[in-house]
Amino acid sequence: MITESHIDGTIDRLFKEIQFAGEPAGLYDPLRYMIGIGGKRIRPRLCLTAYSIFKDRITPKLLEVASALEVFHTFTLLHDDIMDRSPLRRGQETVWKKWNEDTAILSGDVMQIDAYKRIAKAPVDRLDAVLELFSKTAAEVCEGQQYDMEFESVAEVTMEDYCKMIGLKTAVLLACSAKMGAIMAQAEDKQCRALYDYGYQLGMAFQVADDYLDAFGDEKVFGKPIGGDILNCKKSWLTVRTCEKLPKAQKEAFLKRFAELAGNPDEAKTKIADIKKIYVECGVDLDARAEVRRYTEEALKAAKKLKLNKVRFEALKRFAEKLVERAK
Ligand code: IPE
Ligand code: IPE
Ligand code: MG
Ligand code: MG
Ligand code: MG
Repeated sequence: MITESHIDGTIDRLFKEIQFAGEPAGLYDPLRYMIGIGGKRIRPRLCLTAYSIFKDRITPKLLEVASALEVFHTFTLLHDDIMDRSPLRRGQETVWKKWNEDTAILSGDVMQIDAYKRIAKAPVDRLDAVLELFSKTAAEVCEGQQYDMEFESVAEVTMEDYCKMIGLKTAVLLACSAKMGAIMAQAEDKQCRALYDYGYQLGMAFQVADDYLDAFGDEKVFGKPIGGDILNCKKSWLTVRTCEKLPKAQKEAFLKRFAELAGNPDEAKTKIADIKKIYVECGVDLDARAEVRRYTEEALKAAKKLKLNKVRFEALKRFAEKLVERAK
């Protein structure tokens, strides 16, 4: 069976080899910059891990599809950082900050096109399925991002609304990544579906963990500014759960404070501290970690439906466990 270290090595080499050459430099430099810094590359890893359940040899076409997932993801980050006014990503300045917003928009656009060029390299007999899944997922990510932004100015968001939003903005791309590996391996429909569910639940765990780390992570490790969600009035898992736990009067006071905008660095620092204090008093920091574990258990339940032998199941289990433990 293809090992975890073989997958990791293959992905690392792959992204060292990808060039993104072209002119004008102002368009392509930001691509090379963001892809070069490299994040965790979870989506292509997940695609290859799902594939490895069925097949023993990594093919060039599989790598085209796997790289499309990462390029598409990185495109969403370029635009997300403009939308979220985030100055830091992967421990470095974001593209809109280092260059400007127009550059980040256009470089993001060309990245999305690059992702489609890669997806189109899928084998002809699987191209329909691959394109259908990829396009559906890409549209869903935009839908989720729109909800995410609309929620900034909605007074209160229910857990159901929140789950729908993160399901779209984050979970579907992990679901798509896992299913893509299965499609590329010509797995049966039932197995493709089970891997989609596995990826979806992992994606839910992943976004709750991201929300937790945004408030309680270590900026040096996380690579993004701590408290960004609080400053942007983002309805994160922590916010939504706090509203569920607080009695009405306290909830109103919390939401009022949460909606306040910080005008300068001092106000920002105080707002982050005030909100985090309430989170800790409510215990939602611990709740979030429990929720990440719960979603991960759900992912493993979906994986059990594949009825794999121990070695293959363990590969999916290890992948899930690494996500739970993540600090970045
Ligand atoms: C960040 O994704 C966006 C979310 C969906 C939370 P990652 O945490 O996978 O970012 P990188 O690619 O590793 O930087
Ligand atoms: C991002 O959610 C989801 C997508 C990029 C589609 P966040 O806005 O929480 O991601 P980060 O925290 O900036 O990475
Ligand atoms: Mg965002
Ligand atoms: Mg963001
Ligand atoms: Mg986040």
